[in-house]
Amino acid sequence: MNETCVIDASDPSKQKKVVQQVVDLLHSGEVVALPTETVYGLGADALNADAVAKVFAAKERPEFDPLIVHVGSYEQVAEVADVPEELETVVQKLMKAFWPGPLTLVLPKKSCVPDIVTSGLPTVAVRMSGHPIMKAVVRGLGRPIAAPSANRFGRISPTSASAVEKELGGRIPAIVDGGACREGLESTIIRPEAGEKRPVLHLLRAGPVTKEMLQRFGKVERPKRRLSRKDRAQANPEATQQAPEVPGQLAAHYAPRTPLRVLRNAAEFKPEAGKRYALLSYCGSEKAGFIQAHAWDVVEELSPGNGKLAEAAVRFFFVLRQLDESGVDEIIAEPVSETGLGVAIMDRLRRASYGSQSGAGGDQTRS
Ligand code: TXA
Ligand code: MG
Repeated sequence: MNETCVIDASDPSKQKKVVQQVVDLLHSGEVVALPTETVYGLGADALNADAVAKVFAAKERPEFDPLIVHVGSYEQVAEVADVPEELETVVQKLMKAFWPGPLTLVLPKKSCVPDIVTSGLPTVAVRMSGHPIMKAVVRGLGRPIAAPSANRFGRISPTSASAVEKELGGRIPAIVDGGACREGLESTIIRPEAGEKRPVLHLLRAGPVTKEMLQRFGKVERPKRRLSRKDRAQANPEATQQAPEVPGQLAAHYAPRTPLRVLRNAAEFKPEAGKRYALLSYCGSEKAGFIQAHAWDVVEELSPGNGKLAEAAVRFFFVLRQLDESGVDEIIAEPVSETGLGVAIMDRLRRASYGSQSGAGGDQTRS
């Protein structure tokens, strides 16, 4: 692949033409980067294994990490998943409450979904995006679309077309520029299960649909702690090559090239002479004294408008990418409060810091 065409979708009067162009590309087995309300995705016809293989190749994604399948209607869920009778009510309630939107449901898969999509798992992750372009493309294609985030594996998720270009330019034929993503963080992933009294919603990835929002539909549970890669390697040397116990929960993810540390207190920060540091601040950080703690080379605030968590979520990957490109030696991040959307932000921060020198960001290896 040499050239990546960026298709401008900002003019609503041209949207129909753009959608048809994308549908034609997908129909011919190509991959296209598309905006969604969460982050940009790299889409392919989910039922075409060769097309899906191109997604893995462009992202350099290991085969053990399954993709999310996007549907365009409630009815289309039945094309890719079997909803067990005992889960029908809760699944319908969840879809009605959060679809189209940033919630992904892990359900038993239908055999027509190629194994490459689900990494051989018996389940498939399904979501319906509320983004007008993604919605129109899935409907126009008339088939489900597999679309992981449009970044190289393990790197920062893209929330703009230019970020996708940096990640995948030259590797894919087209990127649809639909502007900045409204949510800024990837969808919440849950696996619903029948429980004794209420359904159990296993929270596989925190996201814009928060635990608090899900609680009225069932008991929300975090998956059991995983073994670390080191522990698994000791138990079985081949295990490090295999799928994580909970896919999508790899400790190292969303990683900037620049080392990143989460520090709870400004007092813990001991700068090394000659090194340049950036501060990723939550909203001003006057209280924690972070700004005064050092003559920072760069300071970026997640919530400069003081919109707090919602604003921080929207800006998170954008700001992280900016700091990564700023040329500093290390990024020091201030934690956000771990309630509501803050849980999803801290999850991304911990994974982004994995492998960097340990700070007080919590248990960085097994989040
Ligand atoms: O907001 C989003 O979900 C974005 C947009 C583009 O839709 N997509 C996204 O895809 O974040 P991706 O591939 O970056 O993350 C999907 C996660 C992966 O980490 C994968 O392991 C997990 O979903 N996943 C996929 N299928 C699964 C399954 N059957 N069981 C458990 N986890 C699954
Ligand atoms: Mg991703």
